Amino acid sequence: MLSSFVLLFLLGSSLARTSVNPMDLFKRISSSCGTAGPLSCHNTTAVNTCCTEYPGGLILQTQFWDTDVAGSPADSWTIHGLWPDNCDGTYTEDCDPSRDYTNITALLTSQNATSTLDYMQQYWLNDDGTSEELWEHEWATHGTCYSTLEVSCLPSGSPAGAEAVAFFETVVRLFQTLPTYTWLADAGITPTSDQTFTLSELTSALSTGSGGYTPALGCDGSELDEISWYFNLRGSVIDGDFVPINSPESSSCPSSGIQYLPKQSS
Ligand SMILES: *[C@@H]1O[C@H](CO)[C@@H](O)[C@H](O)[C@H]1NC(C)=O
Ligand SMILES: *[C@@H]1O[C@H](CO)[C@@H](O)[C@H](O)[C@H]1NC(C)=O
Ligand SMILES: *[C@@H]1O[C@H](CO)[C@@H](O)[C@H](O)[C@H]1NC(C)=O
Repeated sequence: MLSSFVLLFLLGSSLARTSVNPMDLFKRISSSCGTAGPLSCHNTTAVNTCCTEYPGGLILQTQFWDTDVAGSPADSWTIHGLWPDNCDGTYTEDCDPSRDYTNITALLTSQNATSTLDYMQQYWLNDDGTSEELWEHEWATHGTCYSTLEVSCLPSGSPAGAEAVAFFETVVRLFQTLPTYTWLADAGITPTSDQTFTLSELTSALSTGSGGYTPALGCDGSELDEISWYFNLRGSVIDGDFVPINSPESSSCPSSGIQYLPKQSS
């Protein structure tokens, strides 16, 4: 999974350079950190926190299975966010209210990240308000807590909000390597009202699909509605390598009788 992630990233950057779409001129800012530094949560001496995520080095890519959001794709989970937990599972939120941007759409557009914005409009949906509101909330609550995205870590001359643009670009490209729906479907597990599943059926399908990693599943009662994929990070959130790990948390779903219901909108 890691190598396909790196490959996607390389493909993405070479496509961006050869693209003829004049609306897609995003040039990813670089952290200049590389990926040779310590893995987050594994440093044994003090580190440069622009280049090693600290203290939030346990990173969750969270996804929703929301059955009642208009226009939500029937054959994909959708993005919730990318959350930095401390290495012991505690976490901080709302770390820098001075960067609670209320113009995520405008930031992405003005910094030429229009293909990321298009993708977010399809796969990062709010079940209770506009998607822009969910993006603002995810940035303010979680994005502002990344040490590697502090403004002082950015290349000089970066436009205002460039670190938030980099955050959204990273969330999208990481999500694209985590096709939860497909991994379940590959094991014959598709949404249905006629059957329930055991937790071990679901986690073993997802472990097979992901190349051996166990996520944490979330349920509302018996209904499956959320998943968290866990990572440590080498380098910066801007352009580092996300290294998959097993979930240190157990799933909140019951061990059997789990419902994976079809989306109503589809
Ligand atoms: C890891 O780096 C942080 C930030 O420099 C530092 O505070 C912490 O003590 C380091 N951990 C160890 C075990 O040295
Ligand atoms: C977005 O808002 C920030 C302040 O919150 C401002 O500095 C920046 O110029 C705005 N950018 C755009 C493209 O609207
Ligand atoms: C966005 O593209 C325009 C050209 O259309 C360019 O002038 C500008 O520097 C680009 N901005 C960023 C942040 O890449």
